[in-house]
Amino acid sequence: MEIDIKPNQRKSIHGQWSSKIVFIFAATGSAVGLGNIWKFPWMTSEYGGGAFVLIYILSVILIALPIMIAEVLIGRHGKQNPVGSLKYLSNKSSTFDVTEIDSDLQRIQTKSKKYSNADDYTNWQLVGWSGMIAGILILSFYSVIAGWTMSYIFKAISGAFSGITVEDSKSMFDTFVGDPEKLLGWHTIFMILTCFIVSKGVKGGLEKSVKILIPGLFLLLISLAFYTYTLSGFYDGLAYMFIPDISKIDGNVILGAMGMAFFSLSIGMGSLMIYGSYLSDESSITNVTAVVAFADTFVAILAGVIIFPIVFTYNLDPSTAGPGLIFQTLPIAFGAMPGGIIIATVFFILLFFAAITSSISLIEPAITYMIEKHSISRPEASAKLGFLTWLLGIGTILSFSYAADLKLFGFTFFDLLDNFTSKVMLPLGGLLIAIFAGFIVKHNIIFDELNISNFKFIFWKSLVRYVAPIAVTLIFVNGLL
Ligand code: TRP
Repeated sequence: MEIDIKPNQRKSIHGQWSSKIVFIFAATGSAVGLGNIWKFPWMTSEYGGGAFVLIYILSVILIALPIMIAEVLIGRHGKQNPVGSLKYLSNKSSTFDVTEIDSDLQRIQTKSKKYSNADDYTNWQLVGWSGMIAGILILSFYSVIAGWTMSYIFKAISGAFSGITVEDSKSMFDTFVGDPEKLLGWHTIFMILTCFIVSKGVKGGLEKSVKILIPGLFLLLISLAFYTYTLSGFYDGLAYMFIPDISKIDGNVILGAMGMAFFSLSIGMGSLMIYGSYLSDESSITNVTAVVAFADTFVAILAGVIIFPIVFTYNLDPSTAGPGLIFQTLPIAFGAMPGGIIIATVFFILLFFAAITSSISLIEPAITYMIEKHSISRPEASAKLGFLTWLLGIGTILSFSYAADLKLFGFTFFDLLDNFTSKVMLPLGGLLIAIFAGFIVKHNIIFDELNISNFKFIFWKSLVRYVAPIAVTLIFVNGLL
């Protein structure tokens, strides 16, 4: 059987985005999340400020963006779950020999066929598999942190931040994360919400919510940046972020920055393959991905511009706060500003929405796989995968209290998951996606999908073939040593 080679007539069985703008919103919804606001400032402080930011931006442009384009392209052409799309493209791009019995001649013959069977197993599927697993692992801790955000909405409404001091803010956070039952409650609620939305199909709900959410989040962040501009530590904060101390750059910082770029842009695990599979064939992949990457980077930088002036105004030590950085610093600023209760409440609500539009994309690849492969319903797939993720999340919850001292290679359970996914699984997935798009997929398929000028095409192709794979490999090996 030869496989269908007219991509334009195929559609994902899960439907299509109603327009290009909706894809941009949805992919931005996936990209913009806790990664930008919670993790980026934390990583910046962990890896010494400006040097990290510089490498982060370079990683986004030279490594992440070309891979992002490859991922959307594979998804749009494959129009299935990531495993299926990789399989489809790999088979469509291969010529291979088949051995069959010719019944007339009564002997075994080897023929070279142009296209293999659409259903044949290929090793590239493993990239889809590891991506789905990475998504579940990430979501298991992502949901716990999203739970912190939800709890902080209620702290904000109750006025708990009013006039709060540095010490009080820290102890409020420590008491909270040291209480596993509370964390479990919020984690449970967040997972139920995620599964509920995913069980309805990501298109309907997501389309509507991100249209309000993304602009809302942008506006609020910009107003907060205006506020931090009035703080005495504003310039120190900016200097910390934007003046790189080159001596701080080492293998670990570079690996951290690259991993952060993958995490923040949601690449390397199939989220964007899935979103790409719902993208209509008319939209320009390069334009939409560039918009998403720009918006995402903008939000991350803005988050830093908000957090670090607070850090320096109140003489906090950025290197010791860890994952609690934004939860310890922002309340101090909210507590000191006029209208702080309302602003804080709106902020944490928006952050919660940003988290949920990302969490959906973390689980969607595995959901579509279960539906397509095992023919189960969406609600059933959501419930099963949601339960698994929820269970794993308990490990993260405990690593902030009872299991804080239980360490493997010096890492708590949460650190281990976070580092392993961002620094190993996503870069490796991204590397393989780059090699797949750069070397395996037939030239004409890519050329048709991208539909860009020759010059741009060659530029992208050299990034995805050489620059990205070589850089990822070097950074990976160097960072681990
Ligand atoms: N990018 C999201 C954030 O910054 C998280 C996320 C969503 C993600 N989908 C992903 C991370 C896929 C890695 C891979 O919060």
